[in-house]
Amino acid sequence: MTNSEKTNVLLLGNGGREHAIAWKLAQSQNLDKLFIAPGNAGTAEVGTNVQISLEDPAKLLEYAKSQSIGLTVVGPEAPLALGVVNVFRHAGLAIFGPTKEAAMLETSKAYAKEVMVASGVPTANYQVFTDYETAEGAISDWEFPLVIKVDGLAAGKGVIICESKEETLVTLKEIFIDQKFGGAGQKVLIEEFLIGQEISVFSFVDGENISPIIGATDYKRAYDGDAGPNTGGMGSYSPPKVWNKDIENTIIENVFEPVIGYMSSTGNPYTGVLYAGLIVTSDGIKVLEFNCRFGDPETQVLLPRLETDLLSVMQLTATSDITGIDIEWDSRPCVGLVVASGGYPGSYNVGKDIYGLDRIDASVNVFHAGTSVSGDGILTSGGRVLAVTAKSDSFANARELIYKNVEQIEFEGMFFRKDIATGL
Ligand code: AMP
Ligand code: GLY
Repeated sequence: MTNSEKTNVLLLGNGGREHAIAWKLAQSQNLDKLFIAPGNAGTAEVGTNVQISLEDPAKLLEYAKSQSIGLTVVGPEAPLALGVVNVFRHAGLAIFGPTKEAAMLETSKAYAKEVMVASGVPTANYQVFTDYETAEGAISDWEFPLVIKVDGLAAGKGVIICESKEETLVTLKEIFIDQKFGGAGQKVLIEEFLIGQEISVFSFVDGENISPIIGATDYKRAYDGDAGPNTGGMGSYSPPKVWNKDIENTIIENVFEPVIGYMSSTGNPYTGVLYAGLIVTSDGIKVLEFNCRFGDPETQVLLPRLETDLLSVMQLTATSDITGIDIEWDSRPCVGLVVASGGYPGSYNVGKDIYGLDRIDASVNVFHAGTSVSGDGILTSGGRVLAVTAKSDSFANARELIYKNVEQIEFEGMFFRKDIATGL
């Protein structure tokens, strides 16, 4: 292949998900140059970081044009909500991700529920409220615990599980009267509390067609034994324990196909990766939420299993027909352990020197999240700092590899869960 057939790629984001995407894109024979805005110390090892704000779609477009970018890939949800895909498409540039309208599947929980109901997707029972008094009046119809969700994006903090009427009223007051979530809390969903194993399921979607799905399991709580506050995710593994052909077919037929068909019929076809957060209840699978992007830290355990060229998959998803490519996944399991800054998900210090990254086994990947380059060294710059990831012939071996290697890493205040992928 000559250089002229290769593609320059601009990747948006700076988390562990983006380091994993950058790492996989960098393996592509079809890649020319890879730029990451703004990136982290890990992405700087596989491409060029560029300091452009993700909140400025016009600047990103200008940069993409100036570097002859053939494909832009959107990592996180915030630029999708701002319409970066609309801006690029309007200018005739290929971009991987849904439009602002299709991204409402993530940016409005009330909209996601409307789509689920209209397309017959199984989900928890719910009611939507726009003021405190009406919500208060409806509480007697509900059993506890119940789940309160603010409609808009709330950085993972907009879901509150309430055990009693008192707790529910305090939460509703905080949202409607104190406006704790600002505009994101103008609408609120009250939802039935579901019990079961959660799984994160992903498919590449080209507007009409879906790729075969792939699953991962995420550990959301901060401490061992699923104790402590909710986080962005403290570890993950793939495939999920509950994964088999039956569940895969059920999810395709009852979730992905109807939603994608419905979105297309409304004139807002979905393109990019669709992430369904599901719970496997005694009454079958139910959708908890949709996200319009890859999961973090799920991506760090999914992409090491991807055997097909990610750049080709993303190009076909964004510009053409996903049925034109066979997407192959390694059957071997992959496990990822998040190493976090002391205090996370609450307040924590940054700027700590990270030691030992040069002592990691070659068979183990360390994906960076909150890191930055400083001279010859690497510093912490966020709550979730690294994901130590290994693929092996069994979960037990992969687990042993990550826990052996994490011992090599050191920074002041670091912590990680000791129970990721136990009992599999
Ligand atoms: P979401 O952002 O909707 O995925 O919610 C965040 C987390 O809250 C989920 O990963 C679940 O652990 C929990 N959650 C959300 N909705 C429910 C529900 N209806 N029943 C039980 N847990 C839930
Ligand atoms: N790991 C959960 C998420 O990416 O939303």
